[in-house]
Amino acid sequence: MKVFVIGSGGREHALLWKLRQSPDVTELYCAPGNAGTGLVAENVFIPSLDRSALRTFALWKRIDLTVIGPELPLALGMTDYFEDAGLTVFGPTQAAAQLEASKVFAKQFMLEENIQTAPFEVFEDAEKAIAYVEGKRMPIVIKPDGLAPRNGVVVCNMLSDAVAAIRACLVEGCFKKAGKRILIENCLSGQEISYHCLVDGYNFLPLAVSQDYKRLYDDNTGPNTGGMGARSPVPNVTDDLLQKIATRIVEPTISGMAKRECEFRGVLYIGIMIVNGEPYVLEYNVRFGDPEAQVLMMRLKSDLFPLLAACACGGGLRGARAEFSKDTAVCLVAASAGYPDASNYKEVPIRGLEKAAAFQKTEIFHSGTRMVRDQVMAADGSGTRTVRDQMMTAGGRVVGITSLARNSDTAARRTRHAMSRISFDGMHYRTGVGV
Ligand code: AMP
Ligand code: GLY
Repeated sequence: MKVFVIGSGGREHALLWKLRQSPDVTELYCAPGNAGTGLVAENVFIPSLDRSALRTFALWKRIDLTVIGPELPLALGMTDYFEDAGLTVFGPTQAAAQLEASKVFAKQFMLEENIQTAPFEVFEDAEKAIAYVEGKRMPIVIKPDGLAPRNGVVVCNMLSDAVAAIRACLVEGCFKKAGKRILIENCLSGQEISYHCLVDGYNFLPLAVSQDYKRLYDDNTGPNTGGMGARSPVPNVTDDLLQKIATRIVEPTISGMAKRECEFRGVLYIGIMIVNGEPYVLEYNVRFGDPEAQVLMMRLKSDLFPLLAACACGGGLRGARAEFSKDTAVCLVAASAGYPDASNYKEVPIRGLEKAAAFQKTEIFHSGTRMVRDQVMAADGSGTRTVRDQMMTAGGRVVGITSLARNSDTAARRTRHAMSRISFDGMHYRTGVGV
């Protein structure tokens, strides 16, 4: 089978790494990919939003399954566009992707389907929104409706922060169209988990539960990022809780989408806050979390390919099983200088990847990396040139190191040791992931 993965993050590298192990997969392509995906698949240099070039490539290569990694192509209807040409896709249609692409759609959907979530109001007018928060207790959460960098969600501890966040969206237009409508939500406090399940339109298959370390610094301080680390499993997640999530959240979500004639097919990743043992939906995502995918792929013992293919062909998941290692996987992410805000990062060489990869049960999944081919002139002035491949950073999150071990402490320690072998200018990572 020929599989084509669209995207260029650690998530896509981890999915490709796992797909490479499938006896069914004979050819594996990735667009546009990164230096790491190029080690397990053939990179194709087409940007992840160039749908016409991507589809032409898939048709030309007679791809059997296309896996769309990130949310933006899904929200823009890449699945529909591929399916119109008779291609098989893992990932929801544009209509189903609204669960992530519009937070207002998602909240109204939850209200109609009686799915527990934080109370909220929707605003388009800044003055009305400010008057509303002035009457509310802090903290409060402000969210732009559409897709924004790192979600654009602000948890505001003070009224002045809330007013600034409202103005940023509705007056200053910081998130452009995505921030023309906002949600103002009560703040929930509890333990946050990332719940992933595969969905074929009607049936679902729960994957292991994971947890993301969203803040830039240890002790949950600093700005929100895409995720500086992850672990799986998560302590204190009981069977009783999983049962509540299945019956009160996942089942009504799948049947509610089918009822609206936008059956969900793909991976549903639900951000859940557990408050006094009760699960509340923080948000829906219509793709794998990153770095969550890195720990999930490391623990998954079953073959990934038939599971993804079963979702793509509606109704195919009935009777499917996914087996996960009992061990704990911890992922630690290293980011470029200035992340999450830097737009002026410098491309710098990365050293020590081979040494880090030598640790047992440890994998390195790349995000912002690029292989650069240099021609080096001999120092003796002879004019001899040698070609040298150099791994460079490409901004944002650069690499994730994932280790699998008996317990979280051991896995976390191993990721830190492995990470200490890697260096690049401006590199930073958290030290408290998984402990
Ligand atoms: P979201 O994209 O909606 O998941 O928001 C990003 C992050 O903001 C979440 O992972 C939570 O850490 C936080 N968050 C979102 N909504 C709430 C809420 N209602 N109460 C507390 N924290 C929240
Ligand atoms: N790790 C959070 C996300 O993928 O949205």
